Amino acid sequence: MTATDAPATTGTSHAKLQAWVDEVAALTTPDRIEWVTGSDEEWTALTNKLVEAGTFVRLDENKKPNSFYAASDPSDVARVEDRTYICSVDEKDCGPTNNWMDPEKMKDLMRGLYKGCMKGRTMYVIPFVMGHLEAEKPMFGVEITDSEYVVASMRVMARVGDKVKARIEELGDDAKYVPALHSVGAPLEDGQADVKWPCNPEKYIVQFPEERTIWSFGSGYGGNALLGKKCYSLRIASVMARDDGWLAEHMLILKLISPEQQVYYVAAAFPSACGKTNLAMLKPTIPGWKVETLGDDIAWMRFGKDGRLYAVNPEFGFFGVAPGTNEHTNPNAMSTINKGNSVFTNVALTDDGDIWWEGLENTPAHATSWKGEDWTPDSKELSSHPNSRYCTPIEQCDILADEYNDPNGVPISAILFGGRRKTTVPLVTEARDWLHGTFMGATLSSETTAAATGAVGVVRRDPMAMLPFIGYNAGDYFNHWVNLGKDADATKLPKIFYVNWFRRDDEGGFLWPGFGENSRVLKWVIERIEGKAAAIETPIGHVPTPESLDTDGLDMSDADLEQALSVDAEEWKAEIPQIEEWFAKFGDNLPTQLQVELDGLKARLGL
Ligand code: GTP
Ligand code: MN
Ligand code: MN
Repeated sequence: MTATDAPATTGTSHAKLQAWVDEVAALTTPDRIEWVTGSDEEWTALTNKLVEAGTFVRLDENKKPNSFYAASDPSDVARVEDRTYICSVDEKDCGPTNNWMDPEKMKDLMRGLYKGCMKGRTMYVIPFVMGHLEAEKPMFGVEITDSEYVVASMRVMARVGDKVKARIEELGDDAKYVPALHSVGAPLEDGQADVKWPCNPEKYIVQFPEERTIWSFGSGYGGNALLGKKCYSLRIASVMARDDGWLAEHMLILKLISPEQQVYYVAAAFPSACGKTNLAMLKPTIPGWKVETLGDDIAWMRFGKDGRLYAVNPEFGFFGVAPGTNEHTNPNAMSTINKGNSVFTNVALTDDGDIWWEGLENTPAHATSWKGEDWTPDSKELSSHPNSRYCTPIEQCDILADEYNDPNGVPISAILFGGRRKTTVPLVTEARDWLHGTFMGATLSSETTAAATGAVGVVRRDPMAMLPFIGYNAGDYFNHWVNLGKDADATKLPKIFYVNWFRRDDEGGFLWPGFGENSRVLKWVIERIEGKAAAIETPIGHVPTPESLDTDGLDMSDADLEQALSVDAEEWKAEIPQIEEWFAKFGDNLPTQLQVELDGLKARLGL
């Protein structure tokens, strides 16, 4: 069949949306067009098709019901930051931390790539909404993709389908949606057999911030291809947030319940693969404290009428790092995925139809690695890619907070910033105020991980854990943070803290046991907010006195604890030139308030 004799299975009465779909179809020439409905029958048909194509392997129904294993092309395993562009009209609006190309030039170039790129494939149109359909202003998107893997994953990660489409149609011209175009860039000639994981060596992940549109080409990997997630909910949404006075952040949201049944909501920004999903589903080790989850990756935060900052999670699923996840580190994630309805990418496949990864219990004697090779515990290579992921419905999480379903979100009491640092950064530091907290966020540093392609373990600045996700000039983004604090009632703003679970001892081991034990840090945070816990004032902020941190039953030496909490002036002095170099990038766009904060820190360090 050719594109001309293959009409769309359905269309839309929304003329503008239909015109865009027609335009894309004319350019990409798919064999078929299908509108994603979100129905169960559709899931069955899609997953059957993926199994037939060899992209999916169906897992054992008794172990992981309605779940699938996928292995990507070895070249397509992570976000590609060097191929990601913010194509603002004006280069200065993209800023020094993003790649830029003139939008018209980029479109010309990409139209060339998109031309005929869906030949031999089905073009899917996915109406979706990030956040709640019932929100005052629903945040619609429509993703066009030629990848069944993307459709299946989007169905898990976002609210999609007929209901969303009907609402867009109802709103007509008032419906604001982000058009998001994706292709794996692997057209099929007549009779050409498909590969398990089609993709293209040439990749572009492009945001057009003024138009609020996304064009993605060449990759099937989550962060590059599930366009509702990083591309929309962070890059495009951060631009919307700048213009409308809110925040789109790379943050988990959790609900903390004290033994006295006091409820607190905490948001936390850590760079990719630095512990958000783990903290979001934390199982506290201290008696009487309880954690419930609202989100593990993205928070949209707006000021409520009462002056407090309210957060919602725009997503509908978890797209979590698999390795290291187990019954000890994250029992709640394990229980969520064990209920099934999940997709596992680049983990190992066991001989009995289950999945396995490094760090999971019950190491199999033999498995098939993510590269499709034989794997045994003696193998030199890892069974699973370090950035292998599970994709699972959030509603299956046993500890999902009821407030997840509230379109207005939850009022945040504390914001944590954190990174992966072997040295220098103490377990927890409290900022003096919003501005100081903004400085902490703006200078946040972390060792790079496998979540993006490139070297691993290199210390880089990752402001607010948003380095790869700020959709505009990062200097303007800092200014936005400063201004939100300036205009708000300071007594109602969340308190800001800086945490580091990853400090090492002299032998290279982690000083702090982390995971469930991080509840001790959360408790200190809450007690600081309540004015109950002691702290030492240091040049970088307030850190706990060893006695103020609840260490009852903690298996850790006093010396290690002291080391984990210590502020070493020499280490911090060494940090200053790096911060200065970082700030210098922003020139006039750096808010003067942050320069004043840096000068204050230097003075306190005696520099
Ligand atoms: P993205 O989903 O990529 O944004 O990352 P994330 O921030 O959700 O990362 P995640 O929670 O999946 O953490 C990934 C890595 O951090 C795994 O290797 C975990 O084992 C490790 N990790 C998480 N929490 C802790 C902790 O408290 N201590 C230590 N030592 N490691 C941790
Ligand atoms: Mn993330
Ligand atoms: Mn995560």
